Amino acid sequence: MQPNRDTKTVSRWLVVGCDGMLGQDLVAALGESAGSDEVTAVDQDVLDIRDPDACTAAVDGHDLVVNVAAYTAVDEAESHESQAFSVNAVGAANLARACSAAGARMVQVSTDYVFAGDATSPYAEDAPLSPRSAYGRTKGAGEWAVQAYCPQSWIVRTAWLYGANGPNFVKTMARLAAERDTVSVVDDQFGQPTWTVDLAAAIVRLVEADAPFGTYHGTSAGQTTWFGFAQAIFAELGLDSGRVKPTTTDAFPLPAPRPAYSVLGHEAWRGAALDPLPSWRKSLTQAVPVVVPR
Ligand SMILES: NC(=O)c1ccc[n+]([C@@H]2O[C@H](COP(=O)([O-])OP(=O)(O)OC[C@H]3O[C@@H](n4cnc5c(N)ncnc54)[C@H](OP(=O)(O)O)[C@@H]3O)[C@@H](O)[C@H]2O)c1
Repeated sequence: MQPNRDTKTVSRWLVVGCDGMLGQDLVAALGESAGSDEVTAVDQDVLDIRDPDACTAAVDGHDLVVNVAAYTAVDEAESHESQAFSVNAVGAANLARACSAAGARMVQVSTDYVFAGDATSPYAEDAPLSPRSAYGRTKGAGEWAVQAYCPQSWIVRTAWLYGANGPNFVKTMARLAAERDTVSVVDDQFGQPTWTVDLAAAIVRLVEADAPFGTYHGTSAGQTTWFGFAQAIFAELGLDSGRVKPTTTDAFPLPAPRPAYSVLGHEAWRGAALDPLPSWRKSLTQAVPVVVPR
């Protein structure tokens, strides 16, 4: 792949969805690395991405827009798909059209839920989309819209995110460890736990390297199950990982179907001569004191 030689260096960033779990770490990463770049950060109190005119006004004057705003309530989306669609698909489309009109480039953050989750080897970046949940359908539509309206864009799919600034599995395990003797966790869903700090740094690297436009998988290296992840969290907290007991997805029925296999491949990073994200297990050691400070 060739770099985007005809594009200009980013100096004016717009981060949309800055108060979310990833958004906060992205703004922090930009503060550390963007040097003299200007960073504007907004969330829906300032910019509701469902409003196309507001998107046009907000994007004006920026070179690069990172959309980390989303309707992320996966189970609620099953019964509120039109609301999820209005943010994840129409909102992404509004931003993409505004970027195209302003000559800005765009990063759209997406999800492993765009895949069926029934593979047996890592999903390639160009694997066909086949979402099984309402959330996945709306995020898949968002990817399509961004690519259609703003070809100068990067789609960054992530999964199993955790960080200091939002509810997530690491915090839940730390809380349950304090409340219960044992914790049952599903051992039949595979994925890649990903620290928001690692993903934020990777997004900044991607843009600053002027990587080829296209789709990238922003998940950690390696793989595990939720059970394996929970055991590792207990170990990092200095607790007996034997207190984590394996169970199956069937024992925890939820409105939205969960992908059994959400392992994503990382070839596009190598194709762009960039390092993929680090190993999930190494990052967890660094992340736990930050995510659940004691
Ligand atoms: N968390 C994960 O495990 C995971 C996995 C795969 C992919 N992703 C993707 O990663 C990205 C970041 O996820 P996250 O976990 O950081 O999400 P998050 O914590 O839920 O943050 C999303 C942000 O978007 C804002 N937002 C919602 N509707 C909006 C609208 N209409 N206009 C403007 N802003 C709006 C939310 O504001 P309110 O709080 O006021 O609603 C919130 O601040 C999303 O694209 C998500 O789909 C996340």
